[in-house]
Amino acid sequence: MTTIPAPARLIPASARVIPAPARLIPAPARLDPVQGCFTFTGATPLTADPALARAAAWLRESLTPATGLPLPEGPGGVELRMAEGLGPEEYRLTATEESVLIEAATPAGAFYGAQTLRQLLDPAAFRAGRTGNRTWSVPAVTISDAPRYGWRGCLIDVARHFLPKHDLLRYIDLLAAHKLNVLHLHLTDDQGWRLEIRKYPKLTEAGSWRRESPLGARRHRRFDGRPHGGHYSQDDIREIVSYAADRFVTIVPEIDLPGHTQAAIAAYPELGNLGTPLDVRTEWGISENVLNVADATIAFFTDVLEEVLELFPGQYVCVGGDEVPKTQWNESVPAKERIRELGLRDADELQTWFMRHFTDFLLARGRTPLGWDELMEGGLPPGITVASWRGTTCTALAARAGHDVIVSPFAETYLDFRQAESEQEPVPIGSVTSLSAVHAFDPIPAGLTEPERSRILGAQAALWTEHIDSPRLLDYMAFPRLSAFAEAVWSGERDFEDFLARLAVHEKRLDALGVEYRPAAGPHPWQQRPDAPGHPRTRAEIDGQLATWTANLRS
Ligand code: ACM
Repeated sequence: MTTIPAPARLIPASARVIPAPARLIPAPARLDPVQGCFTFTGATPLTADPALARAAAWLRESLTPATGLPLPEGPGGVELRMAEGLGPEEYRLTATEESVLIEAATPAGAFYGAQTLRQLLDPAAFRAGRTGNRTWSVPAVTISDAPRYGWRGCLIDVARHFLPKHDLLRYIDLLAAHKLNVLHLHLTDDQGWRLEIRKYPKLTEAGSWRRESPLGARRHRRFDGRPHGGHYSQDDIREIVSYAADRFVTIVPEIDLPGHTQAAIAAYPELGNLGTPLDVRTEWGISENVLNVADATIAFFTDVLEEVLELFPGQYVCVGGDEVPKTQWNESVPAKERIRELGLRDADELQTWFMRHFTDFLLARGRTPLGWDELMEGGLPPGITVASWRGTTCTALAARAGHDVIVSPFAETYLDFRQAESEQEPVPIGSVTSLSAVHAFDPIPAGLTEPERSRILGAQAALWTEHIDSPRLLDYMAFPRLSAFAEAVWSGERDFEDFLARLAVHEKRLDALGVEYRPAAGPHPWQQRPDAPGHPRTRAEIDGQLATWTANLRS
């Protein structure tokens, strides 16, 4: 995943006309329609090179229930074939009146070809069962396609509101259907610890639930009086990781350190600075309760990461590092003692010292640590890949310092931000992040030098869930913006009007999948949250916030 794929080839406009029935999302790099169509029958066979068997199995498992087509093994119908000279996720799809050929150099490439084939069919192919007799056909076409970025991610915050396993598996399918390949799982935060750790059972026994949650933005001080909780057992995680791998989605687990840890401190008070018991946090916002810097705390989280490494085989593990108030460290005798002993400048450098135990540990195990851009404040730990959420300045600084970067600028890719100006938007927070803005998002910000650009591995959208308390609301906030985001990271050129025309068909696919996306005209009455007032801000306010952060960074 660390290799950056070559940019998609430039496509002559004439080659990008997508036949009306298909209307693919994300748009492929090149598509040439041909006369005619390929029609499936009950006898149409499916075969694959042994190396591509996983993609073929997925294709059969997803098409047969919806279409009733048995797709028996054999030559002469749909074929997945290994081909030399294609990129790591590239595929070619050739549909004629006689056959459908998907060529790829890797299983992932074949899988994306298979996903495209599903989109070439009627949207009813996205259902889980049959709705009646119909003729299944795909337009004759040749498609050559490859992603613009190797890292096409989505963060889901399962800490603020737990996402039950069944719904998480469904999201993995939704990511894969959009050719997204990274699920960044934000597993721990002040308001909940969601991952079973065998050595420290209280992390989930005590840390995975809270007494109640805020109703709406923090400033309104409304609470629902209702306990919230849930966690994934280690077998749940093994299942989720394996399910994702079968869909070419890598899970990047996040254990957020040393801030966003109040749930862990509530379970094990000796991890904190105050020596007094704390509750799992019942408010949103940034908690001042951060980890202490004792050797025992470092050992504790090294043990936690040991179990994380057993469970998550992917290259990247996120260790957080965002939003760490230094109030408690500035007042703590042991923290001040550490700063003095180590000859550090301040608590920001203490944070980097603390984080290096974990980043060095991961590097020694052959993994790559990922951390939020605030880690720059005390100096980026060597070998860390930076998740840059605070804009271009952070991206450029991290890249210039020689680090790989995943970009996830909050004003453009945080999908918990409201989708329109209207007061009817459920729990309106942040500035408006419209569908067109997400579609126009350019993962490589303007103004970067060539060496800086070359450090950008890709981008992530983020579904933070303070105000998303159910899978239904998650659908509303994610879609169709995540479909637009998928195009921003997969496709080269972009045309919003053309995207909207394709979205009209794509929404039928989302309907078939049971995705409760936001209607273009705004929320249905039952998608509104008059009980949970938000805190909408203007883009100028958000930009002002960003300017303050980056000014601090430069000073
Ligand atoms: C973040 O939004 N705190 C990474």
